[in-house]
Amino acid sequence: MSKPVPSESLLNFLRELPDVDAPELLKAYEKPFPQTIRVNTLKISEQRCLDMLRGKGVRLEKIPWGRFGYYVKSPGSPSETMEHALGFIYLQGPVSMLAAELLDVTPGLVVLDMCAAPGSKSTQIAQLLQGEGVLVANDVSVGRMRALAFNLQRCGVLNSVTTLVDGRSFGRREPGLFDRVLVDAPCSSLGIVSRDWRIAKRWKEGVSERLSHLQLGLILSGFDALRPGGAMVYATCTFHPLENEHVVNELVKRRAEARIREIKLTSPPHLKALDSWEGVRFEEEVEECVRIYPHQSGAEGFFLAKIEKIERA
Ligand SMILES: C[S@@+](CC[C@H](N)C(=O)[O-])C[C@H]1O[C@@H](n2cnc3c(N)ncnc32)[C@H](O)[C@@H]1O
Repeated sequence: MSKPVPSESLLNFLRELPDVDAPELLKAYEKPFPQTIRVNTLKISEQRCLDMLRGKGVRLEKIPWGRFGYYVKSPGSPSETMEHALGFIYLQGPVSMLAAELLDVTPGLVVLDMCAAPGSKSTQIAQLLQGEGVLVANDVSVGRMRALAFNLQRCGVLNSVTTLVDGRSFGRREPGLFDRVLVDAPCSSLGIVSRDWRIAKRWKEGVSERLSHLQLGLILSGFDALRPGGAMVYATCTFHPLENEHVVNELVKRRAEARIREIKLTSPPHLKALDSWEGVRFEEEVEECVRIYPHQSGAEGFFLAKIEKIERA
């Protein structure tokens, strides 16, 4: 196979991005992601599942930052195992596991996963709810909704409701309803190029500009749907500041009760968010968000923001 070539616009953008080592990132794009699973404790104890897999010769290594997460170090796809068919495991990227971890989900909460399909983070949130409380798993795409419903069913999630609406309507329809909101926004996906090189081949500045408007609508809606004292996580698997820092910055400027909280991580390696982009200086608290690049994580790249809605005085 010929060597994949990123678009000229992407190369120009990466040159402008102040915190990235572009050659290292491009090298990482050429490597496949590690195979990783999350053990679904809604259906089986972690130890029993590990014993079953190891009994079949599967070599596993703990993902340091993801509860129930493991690297699969032996050949063969975990998606072809009986453990997968039975819903004992879910194939999920290691960095993707962070978003739901940062949401501080505890049993009994009412949680909205606004852009949920195909359900990696929804099934993870359901696992953390331990069957108590409610998960509203929403997506706007009918096609992707099928995969979401299937995965929730396969993973034995009983306390969920799936909805098929534009996420931008939640804030207006259900203001203050949710204890937790996850906005895992549609994005230009520059953090998962290893999975699909067409992303890098086709990327143009206009893609991020267009998505930025949608992402702002989603984050504002998610914030409005949150109860005072509640928390949300905004996540993308991309690096463009228009899809990340800019979106969070606009939220802080437009909603007086929004506070960006520090994300404390010992691993994977990560960077603080940018303080400015193209001459626009962001609010100071935006720097508390984190950027994770594939060449540093050895897996996907993500941007993560943790936001709290403070109670009015
Ligand atoms: C990054 S993917 C979500 C991945 C998912 N959270 C997971 O972990 O499996 C973004 C999702 O946003 C959905 N989406 C796009 N526009 C939306 C909108 N206006 N409202 C709700 N969902 C939307 C897409 O259909 C897509 O499934």
